[in-house]
Amino acid sequence: MATFTYIDLFAGIGGFHQAADALGGKCIFASELDAEAKRAYFVNYGLMPDGDITKIANDEIPDHDVLFAGFPCQPFSIIGNRLGFDDIRGTLFFEIARVLEAKKPRLFILENVKQLSRHNMGKTLQTILHTLEKLGYRVYWDVLNALDFGLPQKRERTIIVGFLDNSVDFLFPINKITGKLEDILEADECVDEKYFASERIIEKRLAKHTSDYFPSIWHENKSGNISSYPYSCALRAGASYNYLLVNGRRRLTPREMLRLQGFPDTFQIVCNDGQTRKQAGNAVPVNVIKAVLNEVFL
Ligand SMILES: C[S@@+](CC[C@H](N)C(=O)[O-])C[C@H]1O[C@@H](n2cnc3c(N)ncnc32)[C@H](O)[C@@H]1O
Repeated sequence: MATFTYIDLFAGIGGFHQAADALGGKCIFASELDAEAKRAYFVNYGLMPDGDITKIANDEIPDHDVLFAGFPCQPFSIIGNRLGFDDIRGTLFFEIARVLEAKKPRLFILENVKQLSRHNMGKTLQTILHTLEKLGYRVYWDVLNALDFGLPQKRERTIIVGFLDNSVDFLFPINKITGKLEDILEADECVDEKYFASERIIEKRLAKHTSDYFPSIWHENKSGNISSYPYSCALRAGASYNYLLVNGRRRLTPREMLRLQGFPDTFQIVCNDGQTRKQAGNAVPVNVIKAVLNEVFL
């Protein structure tokens, strides 16, 4: 039995959807621009997301209890720089504000990159919080790290939670359950050859770096420096091919990337490797949202 209805904006492949359904939610509307992400969403959840949110009128969106939105990080640079402090019109955040104003769900959870909290000396986030408060919500925010919620991935994200009931006091979950790489990695013997780096790349890596950990994920930064940890650095949608290498030798498989984001193995991979890599890199870590929802519904 569903205990709450929700809408999933900027839905991607449904990180919010995974968390919400696990806690009794029922998705009644989703919006996503990307055709491949929409296809994956439909196959996995039986609901085809509508398209561009900027083209969807309020009366096309059903009333709902909870609004989720992991809005793209690109537009927030516009909020702070090009527009005045109180003017967020023209940004995708405005689409969220517009739906909240029209529908007034009792709760919302928004997600964005960690940098949002510091962007333009914090003014961008203040603009966002102020806008949400003006809509009648009591708003809380924090930066949460997937690493603290049972996932072996360092992924810090700004999470904003808002309650229509202004009497609600909320504390963000403080977990310290580190996930183990062993739990998400596939055995090398079962991994297709195409995921292994060339001998040349492997030799170059080994010449530059020795890891203190096994298993480990090797990370190459923009300057070509290599570091390795018993967890993964943040998956990125547009990262270069060998940005992360398992034990310095092979790329993560699509299944491993999804696991790093907390997607269960029942999630069907229907798109090609490139698309799935992008989708996993864009997703919100399921465990983080589950933990936040648990605090909200306790
Ligand atoms: C950061 S990702 C969110 C991923 C999602 N939370 C998940 O768990 O998979 C942002 C998504 O917004 C989508 N998007 C960008 N502009 C959009 C628009 N105007 N309308 C609907 N979706 C949009 C992108 O295609 C991308 O999948």
